[in-house]
Amino acid sequence: MKEGKTSTSFLSKSSKGVYTMTYEALNSLLNELSIEEKVGQLVQWIIKQTKENVSGSITGPSMSKLPDELLEHYSSILNFTSPEESTVLQAEYLASHAHPIPLLFMMDVVHGYKTIYPIPLALAGSFNPSLMEECSRMAAKEASAGGIHVTFAPMVDHVRDSRWGRVMESGGEDPYLTGIMGAAQIKGFHGNGLKNKDAIATCVKHFAGYGAPEGGKDYYQTDLSEHVMREWYLPAYKACLDAGADMVMPSFNSVNGLPSVVNTWLIQDILRDEWKFNGVIDSDYNAIGELTKHGLVDNKEDAACLSIKNECDLDMFSGCYAKYLAKCIRDGRVSMEVLDRSVMRVLQLKNALGLFEDPYRGASTEKLTQVCLSNEHRKLAKQAAIESSVLLKNEGILPFSKDVKKIALIGPFANNNRIIGNWSCNGDVNDVITVEQGIRALLPNAEITCIEGCSNQIGDHDTSSIKQAVAIAADAECVILCIGEDMIYTGEYRCRATLTMPGVQTELVRQVTSANPRTAVLLFNGRPLELADIDNSASAILEMWMPGTEGGNAAAEMLFGYATPSGKLSISFPMSVGQLPLFYARSSTGRPKLNENGDFESGRCGYMDCGNLPLYSFGYGLSYTTFEYISLQLEHESINLGDDIKVIVTIKNTGRFIGSEIVQVYINDLVSSIVTPIQKLAAFQKVTLVPGESRAIELLVSSERMMLWNANNEHVIEPGEFEISTGWADHLIFTSKFKIEK
Ligand code: NOJ
Repeated sequence: MKEGKTSTSFLSKSSKGVYTMTYEALNSLLNELSIEEKVGQLVQWIIKQTKENVSGSITGPSMSKLPDELLEHYSSILNFTSPEESTVLQAEYLASHAHPIPLLFMMDVVHGYKTIYPIPLALAGSFNPSLMEECSRMAAKEASAGGIHVTFAPMVDHVRDSRWGRVMESGGEDPYLTGIMGAAQIKGFHGNGLKNKDAIATCVKHFAGYGAPEGGKDYYQTDLSEHVMREWYLPAYKACLDAGADMVMPSFNSVNGLPSVVNTWLIQDILRDEWKFNGVIDSDYNAIGELTKHGLVDNKEDAACLSIKNECDLDMFSGCYAKYLAKCIRDGRVSMEVLDRSVMRVLQLKNALGLFEDPYRGASTEKLTQVCLSNEHRKLAKQAAIESSVLLKNEGILPFSKDVKKIALIGPFANNNRIIGNWSCNGDVNDVITVEQGIRALLPNAEITCIEGCSNQIGDHDTSSIKQAVAIAADAECVILCIGEDMIYTGEYRCRATLTMPGVQTELVRQVTSANPRTAVLLFNGRPLELADIDNSASAILEMWMPGTEGGNAAAEMLFGYATPSGKLSISFPMSVGQLPLFYARSSTGRPKLNENGDFESGRCGYMDCGNLPLYSFGYGLSYTTFEYISLQLEHESINLGDDIKVIVTIKNTGRFIGSEIVQVYINDLVSSIVTPIQKLAAFQKVTLVPGESRAIELLVSSERMMLWNANNEHVIEPGEFEISTGWADHLIFTSKFKIEK
């Protein structure tokens, strides 16, 4: 070890026995650092930039190993694969530095580390924040054993256009639901607090408006008014910061003309000043370097200078800080105060994670093996897959009998382990239970014939195997037809101009369902697709999304009635791609159609060749049982400004199965100083009822849901009449009114 203080000499022990650096200790450490050491604290490399022959993953442009001088001082590593890698790197780094400040290790733990649970878009549809929290807790236990200190999650970008491939990572089209689910993730990742070794820190992303690139093309510009930003695009990030998110990642795209990393309104005015966020801001992968491509600067020194001045603390991958920041300081272009502020934030995060006390945080292969893919974790992943699945159609087909003898299992996802989904971190497709494996395990005595029938590749027109699939279908008691989009059709830069089912899968559905009407279609996809043709042909459709490691077991249990689907859509499925951007919380218009889904009406807001409504709306989803909505009552007819209101919805399980219903409440501000949406989710609750049971469910609509951003961008409640409804988006069953008094 070089001369200098060891990290532990700064530690003080709290009354609870937890070591921690005081602010003063961190400050004196900061004051001892040279400019180069300080700059190093703001530099983040991917592991492949620091070493040769390492196995780390690539989640952006790759680069071969950097020259040694750039590797003298750095602060953080991303995209490594094993605890050995991180432990060796940490030990080498600490041993070779005069100020042995531990490295931070980060990775995208988006929907699991090794045990993969459903993609966030799917899990949002469980409307079950406790389940989301449990899944994130599980991921944190596995990831921390694997040496990860920070996850680049939750991703809470608001999405209205599912051509954008990153829709799979999001919570869908409602920012209230997304914010609740994002907060639940943070709670789960944090567990009992960051000092605990099984907790990891979080980075909310991609701030802001990344989900609204024009044309649905990733990285492309976003142009949003301040009103729309505040009302729809900012709230979910804010909810995550309120829940204690540790870091923020600005988005790649330009927002109203300025890339987020240098967007002063977003970062300084909103995030730092208005929301008082004093945690670490981490540029996205090469986002600082890409300022030259945006044409904002013509050299990387200016890029570094602009970004640090905009309070972006960490430079991920680009090397702009590593190469130019010290020079910017020495030339007086950036003040030492600005540099120190950023360095301090990074040191504070390391301290919050207890890294000065234990830079390894107990990561080891042994621990990893114990904790990953345990029975307990697999069980939770299966439960999550079940609760995320949405029954889109069922004309008396499902569940199939448990005694069925002859099953045809058809489609490119019938025995496909790529149902794990994109952004699956260290998840391995070989650990995935396919649908075929799940059914065989559940029904060992059934005769199952499995055939693909066609591929799931975009542009594949080969129909030659359909005939054989049809013959197998015709000869079976029931058919399970598994189709969808490959896992790499959604995720970063996986955008589409169309939303059709890839290849000839729709044709496969048409022919198989006409050969055997007892066909259930199972969908595996990371985004909404155009399903009108499939809806016309199939009697039953179960949306499985990308369900993760236990997808096949979850599917089998639902198909044969060992479990009942209860998920609802977190995002609308369009009739046609031409309806995009599409979202249920649409504004009122001066010329609404009388029948939003009906034929063309002259002089009204709509299309000549398509209705206005989606095929399946936000909040929609069936069960094997049926629920009757009996009544909607409001506790008061009028309330005072700032009060919450209690809503009582009575429902009854009128079917033959035990089942869960997600009771949803929507609000509509009838007269306001600015145009507001005709329906906005205001509260929800998941309840489980046995057949014949009815229950009055109390939901609290908080005054926050009555607020709007007015024309002066003030967040206010405007007294007057409001409507409260229950049902699901576009299909409200009961509506009542209440008044907010002046
Ligand atoms: C780029 C992606 O935009 C971001 O979401 C991710 O966290 C980073 N790469 C790191 O992998």
